[in-house]
Amino acid sequence: MQPSARALAIAPSATLELAARAGAMKVAGEDVINLSVGEPDFPTPAPVVEAAHRALDEGHFHYTPTPGIAALREGIAKRYRAKLGLEIEAAQVVVSHGAKQALFNALATATDPGDRVGILVPGWVTYLEQVHALGCEAVLVDCPRENRFRPDLDQLRTAVRNGLRILVINSPSNPTGAAFTAEELGQILEILQEGEALLLSDEIYEDILFDRRKHESPFASRPGWLDRGCLVSGFSKAFAMTGWRIGFSIADRSWSRSMSALQGHVTSGINAVTQQAALVALESWDRVDPMRAAFEERRNHLLPRIQELPGVEVESPEGTFYLYMGVGDCLGEGGLASDVAALAGRILDEQKVVLVPGSAFGDDTSLRLSFAASIEDLDRAVDRLREIFR
Ligand SMILES: Cc1ncc(COP(=O)(O)O)c(C=O)c1O
Repeated sequence: MQPSARALAIAPSATLELAARAGAMKVAGEDVINLSVGEPDFPTPAPVVEAAHRALDEGHFHYTPTPGIAALREGIAKRYRAKLGLEIEAAQVVVSHGAKQALFNALATATDPGDRVGILVPGWVTYLEQVHALGCEAVLVDCPRENRFRPDLDQLRTAVRNGLRILVINSPSNPTGAAFTAEELGQILEILQEGEALLLSDEIYEDILFDRRKHESPFASRPGWLDRGCLVSGFSKAFAMTGWRIGFSIADRSWSRSMSALQGHVTSGINAVTQQAALVALESWDRVDPMRAAFEERRNHLLPRIQELPGVEVESPEGTFYLYMGVGDCLGEGGLASDVAALAGRILDEQKVVLVPGSAFGDDTSLRLSFAASIEDLDRAVDRLREIFR
């Protein structure tokens, strides 16, 4: 079978591919330290797990409403009413199979083939591939390291003036760890207002912020923006629930209806047991902060050690569990490798440490290290990296 042109335009997920390669090396008995994974290394909090057991005992075996059970949609609406200071109804919430599906729902229902979608780079690999899957055109807006991974506002303005249908932002950001301030978000919105572009804000790392930072959402205290925007978040990162597959979107009623209609023909409502567990997660925020604090401790431990590696440039991430290492000076003739993918391959082959090449995020000069790992493993990884970055 010859796949469609649209299908051929979709690249497989580089991070999942690397994780698979590392998994195979582990099975072969190699001492691999996998710092490529994008998930907390903690178990899901006990009350959430117990709720899932209970849900099975109580017989939650059957289909659920496509946009999620009423109590969960209301619980999510309540949380964001309080957080954003906005009127949000349960009907504006669609529960989906991870934030990933919520993002796809949002993009698929907001765009037609050929529409232009703004993506900040470096940015999470999936945005670009979802845009390709939908037959849309990606318009890349640079967020250079020199600008602390904030968007180049002139480029953004040009993109908006050239007719952007929707802009995707992600704060705190995977892979850079940059968390935009309210003022920086305000600047982005001001530029969007010069055109008609919609806003899709992926806030999946909203609970993993460091140095007492508060998460800023572009929608907070800006009621008008939920009429032309969609907030996506979920339970995966905050509650270590990546395998449960639950995320959600919040948008105006009509966009939410479209997303639910689409989801109804693709996957239907998500796993009934996961929804019961998520109801308990919504009452268990006290379980999130110890994990966040552990990530902060690891960041503090790791950062100076990575900063000492010759040729590596690295800023302190403001959130997430990623360190984004600039290695541009180590590439090319006379360097450690010809390009960043080759460098990641060399680090894996020679030192059995898995890092993600920035090429997966639209950036040829960086490597992403996930510190969702034990301090012991992080130390062992740094020892091995020293053998490469001499
Ligand atoms: C920026 C970003 N958005 C969304 C997701 C997807 O989250 P979920 O597992 O809930 O689908 C990820 C997962 O890695 C992510 O890094």
